[in-house]
Amino acid sequence: MAEVFSFDTIVLGAGAAGLMCAARASAKGARVLLVDHAKRAGEKIRISGGGRCNFTNMHCGANNFISDNPHFVKSALARYSQWDFLELVERYKIAWHEKTLGQLFCDGKSTQIIDMLVSEAKNVDIRLETSIDSISRADAGFRVVLSGTPLTTRHLVVATGGKSIPKMGASGLGYRIAEDFDIPVTPTRPALVPLTFAPQELAWIAPLAGTALPARLTANGTQFDEALLFTHRGLSGPAILQISSFWQEGDPLHINLAPQTDLFGALKAARHTNGRRQIGTALAELVPAKLAATLCERLNASGNMGDWSDKRLSDLCAQLHGLVLKPVGTEGYRTAEVTLGGVSTDALSSKTMESKSVPGLFFIGEVVDVTGWLGGFNFQWAWSSGVAAGDCL
Ligand code: FDA
Repeated sequence: MAEVFSFDTIVLGAGAAGLMCAARASAKGARVLLVDHAKRAGEKIRISGGGRCNFTNMHCGANNFISDNPHFVKSALARYSQWDFLELVERYKIAWHEKTLGQLFCDGKSTQIIDMLVSEAKNVDIRLETSIDSISRADAGFRVVLSGTPLTTRHLVVATGGKSIPKMGASGLGYRIAEDFDIPVTPTRPALVPLTFAPQELAWIAPLAGTALPARLTANGTQFDEALLFTHRGLSGPAILQISSFWQEGDPLHINLAPQTDLFGALKAARHTNGRRQIGTALAELVPAKLAATLCERLNASGNMGDWSDKRLSDLCAQLHGLVLKPVGTEGYRTAEVTLGGVSTDALSSKTMESKSVPGLFFIGEVVDVTGWLGGFNFQWAWSSGVAAGDCL
């Protein structure tokens, strides 16, 4: 006699990936249970993008993701692309706009995206404030104990996200489930996260808190041109968040403070126009005034421009175009937007996200060793991997 399961599919984690996967599986007629220990579904969607959810990116492609296997994302992204998600958003008449660099945001609140996904999941049994007590293999499926209630399922989807922002429900459970089933997990660390500095660096960085400027950041051979922000704790802003995914402890960080400006040419022209002008005053027209003052003090740059030789000017500009700092760490999972590393892509089918060694067990979203750049790529991975699994359940 065929086994009678409580559900065809149980999805663990009602975040971005879990909601999408459950909706797609139930749309094909599967009996789906979606569980989460949080009070509400999609909490990270709610707080994302400053409350407006940067839900995808128009330029999304495999090169916007970090993974041990850079090809792994291709199949899922091709099957369900940024344009497919945009079509869904438009079907629900959610107004959106491109902010910058292809990043698409809601005009209104990000809760519109949660409402849309919950509506898509109308046939899913959603149980919130439910604990996942234990998981084990049962004949042709899995036995899952949820808040004390034992249930069985043919398919089990792990969509419990990463470790970032434990206050919002992140628990790292997905990695433990993988390990319990002997599925390899690549080392994890916080990513898209502000960088911190030793006290002697912080002493000049912290007073600049609030100062922002366009900059070019390079670490480990990777480069980003975006805004840099000084904070009381160190450096942040999109440029830092992006480079944090590539920077590793001990690496220097190269900062071009004026990537779009030929500082040497501009300062030479300023000297030609008025040799009695202070170097700091001229520099304050090229970078934020507070930063110019701090840099002049740190680099002993003072006096009339007329007294500055070409060599001295060029040396100063070289330092501003190539400031080298050594971060000591990151702000950690407390503020990191995502977790780098995770369930090894070697262990999963790139078409369905199913484990190669444990048939019926799937991993989707952030728990997988796939991390997007800043700019809507992480949600796109949640949608694409959710669909890849959901459509085959
Ligand atoms: P997600 O974290 O969304 O969901 C996991 C779910 O599992 C949660 O609901 C959690 O409660 C549940 N869970 C975890 N452990 C459990 C347990 N033990 N028992 C039961 N349930 C459990 N990305 C982007 O593309 N654009 C953006 O604008 C932003 N903005 C942003 C802002 C901030 C502040 C953060 C922290 C992150 C972002 N991100 C983002 C990243 C994005 O939020 C993230 O990549 C996705 O939410 C990942 O989706 P998942 O469904 O994999 O995990």
